[in-house]
Amino acid sequence: MAQIQIAHGLEGVVSHATRLSEVDGAAGRLIIRGYDIGDLVGQVCFEEAVYLLWHGDLPDRAQLDGLRAEMVRARRLPQPVLTWLQGPGRQTEGMHALRIGMAMLTLDEPRPDDVSPQANLPRAIRLTARVPELIAQHARARSGHAPVETPDDLGFAAGYLYALEGRQPDPVRVEALDAYLVTVIEHGMNASTFAARVIASTQSDMVSALTGAVGALKGPLHGGVPGPVLAMVQEVRQPQNAERWVRAALARGERIMGFGHRVYRVRDPRAEVLGRVAEHLAGVTGDRGLLDLIRAVEESAVRVLAETKPGRALYANVELYAALVLHEAGIPPELFTPTFAAARTAGWTAHILEQYADNRLIRPQSVYVGPRDRAVLPLAARPPAHPGRLRSC
Ligand code: COA
Repeated sequence: MAQIQIAHGLEGVVSHATRLSEVDGAAGRLIIRGYDIGDLVGQVCFEEAVYLLWHGDLPDRAQLDGLRAEMVRARRLPQPVLTWLQGPGRQTEGMHALRIGMAMLTLDEPRPDDVSPQANLPRAIRLTARVPELIAQHARARSGHAPVETPDDLGFAAGYLYALEGRQPDPVRVEALDAYLVTVIEHGMNASTFAARVIASTQSDMVSALTGAVGALKGPLHGGVPGPVLAMVQEVRQPQNAERWVRAALARGERIMGFGHRVYRVRDPRAEVLGRVAEHLAGVTGDRGLLDLIRAVEESAVRVLAETKPGRALYANVELYAALVLHEAGIPPELFTPTFAAARTAGWTAHILEQYADNRLIRPQSVYVGPRDRAVLPLAARPPAHPGRLRSC
């Protein structure tokens, strides 16, 4: 048999050509539809970035107003979802609730399997608009609160905070959340996006692809760590403890959450962008306690990781400052990853649309490395797997 090269973890494999984003791991740049992420954040709101992803260009005023109005109209959850949230849904948490809830978001659609562009673009709008409602109304139900009606004059970020808290949110927190949502809206062929595209490539429906993507995002190697990042910095407590804490965690064989990336060999550009947002927030609130602590953790971790893992190029990733910005926006830690999913739903749907538009079934191969040429013995002739134990069938 010829020598077969296995791309473990598909590292270095280019699976798609995409017009959506470029992740330049060597230069530490993220380009969304031709725009640098650092230029988008702070200059466009989340809905503008969503429009950009789906249509390829930033919207004019009328296009933005149109999209906003459509998203507001679409965000009301189907009644069976609300019933589930107030009943069995209360027993499940965070990403589990989002995964189950996501799967139900097309319950009010007569033809969920119609994957034509005419059906899929309105569906992308509807699903993206509904995800923050789902997360917020679930959080309310879990804490024993009745669902609230999100006012129609509130956009995506403000509407999400309103639905969570049941009151008008502070504009500074809305800005912080909006900047976060734009920062994480899209990021190349990451694990959850790939999962979504694999599912779409079978010509399954959009909500099935999104449900799979939520499952992939949930893991700590992907999107599941901003909560642990906040717990880590709260444990460090003082900037002067940072180095000792990092060394002790590494000595226990732990990974430092918020550091390292499969693609970036330099600092994640989104850490830079969210660091800037955090500086802005600290300027407004006059409180830079947590920011100084995170900066100290970053400085120590980068230095100690370079010393203990030479040649590995381990720097801050998006999650380090995401934890801080989400915290400042008033999002509780258990909703950090679901909030990431709310933003990324726009990116996932854009990839799903791109996949359907030029589809080829994604079907890699594996190399078999197990035994061969085994003879099947009748059941009575097979030796017991655990000698001495009684066997039943
Ligand atoms: N802390 C300590 N060591 C780390 C590390 C971290 N955060 N991230 C990677 N490493 C080390 C690994 O232990 C490994 O060292 P070794 O070869 O001596 O065992 C080496 O760096 C390469 O790690 P590997 O798992 O091959 O890198 P990857 O490309 O598969 O992993 C991540 C990328 C993101 C999964 C990884 O960096 C990680 O687990 N980070 C922490 C979790 C996190 O922040 N997730 C959010 C991602 S946006």
